[in-house]
Amino acid sequence: MSEATSHDTQADTAGGAGAEQPLLPDAFTAKALAGRTVIVTGANSGIGAAIVDACAAAGANVVIDWVTHPETVDPATRIAEAAGSGSAMAVQADVGNVADLQNLIDQAVARFGRLDVMINNAGVETRHSLLETEEKDFDFVMNINLKGTFFGAKLAAQQFIKQGGGGVILNVSSVHEDWPMPGNTAYCVSKGGARMLTRTAGVELAQHGIRMVNIAPGAVNTPINAQTMADPEKAAALNHSIPLGRVAEPDEIGATAVFLASDAASYITCTTVVVDGGIMMSAAGL
Ligand code: BGC
Repeated sequence: MSEATSHDTQADTAGGAGAEQPLLPDAFTAKALAGRTVIVTGANSGIGAAIVDACAAAGANVVIDWVTHPETVDPATRIAEAAGSGSAMAVQADVGNVADLQNLIDQAVARFGRLDVMINNAGVETRHSLLETEEKDFDFVMNINLKGTFFGAKLAAQQFIKQGGGGVILNVSSVHEDWPMPGNTAYCVSKGGARMLTRTAGVELAQHGIRMVNIAPGAVNTPINAQTMADPEKAAALNHSIPLGRVAEPDEIGATAVFLASDAASYITCTTVVVDGGIMMSAAGL
């Protein structure tokens, strides 16, 4: 385990949509997550990095989980770039390992006093069909995408309950939690599992005031799509298949995460918010 920290600021309590507080306009201010502690897994690249920046810009204290490429993990720089008012720390934790996940949460709580939002974002794909998938490919995808999300949710919920309830769990899923992507079977199965996790555990956790929501991005301009985007023919076909005519930028997913983590989304749970430019209504996945 290693840890890096940036400048310290205050760690206010989480607040929340208390009955005495008017929901509007506070939930929509630029500081919608002020003083809240947010963990983002797989947070040093792609969608995870964009979520970190968006949450920091919204005033959150952000915990950046990473596994590889320590050179990309510099909380101080990330917060400065996001012009955020919160603090950040980085923790090395493999989400496929439950002990690592517990350590991630424990370090967040030790530093910021509590946990308010858990964002299970870490994800991988191997792009194999059923017939091509070896046991190691299946385990790699399932450990990170499904086991990591499942136990990330469980351990975060335990922490939320210990604190007295409330809290938000967001799972970065995919349009492929619902929409087949032939040639990427284990990935689709893992995301389908995340879809049912949110529908089932979301119901279980509602009595504790915990909301659980999936974000289902379509094609996003991140390393996971680098090969497609580097091939002009494939990139053109992908863009053409999207009604909005382009892949998403990671910060468009970051903005959705801030909204869903904030009190503006106080009645949204047990469901999936699709952020796909319309792709699911259009053509086959690429
Ligand atoms: C997959 C990408 C794919 C996109 C749209 C994502 O979940 O990771 O590989 O391009 O869905 O089909």
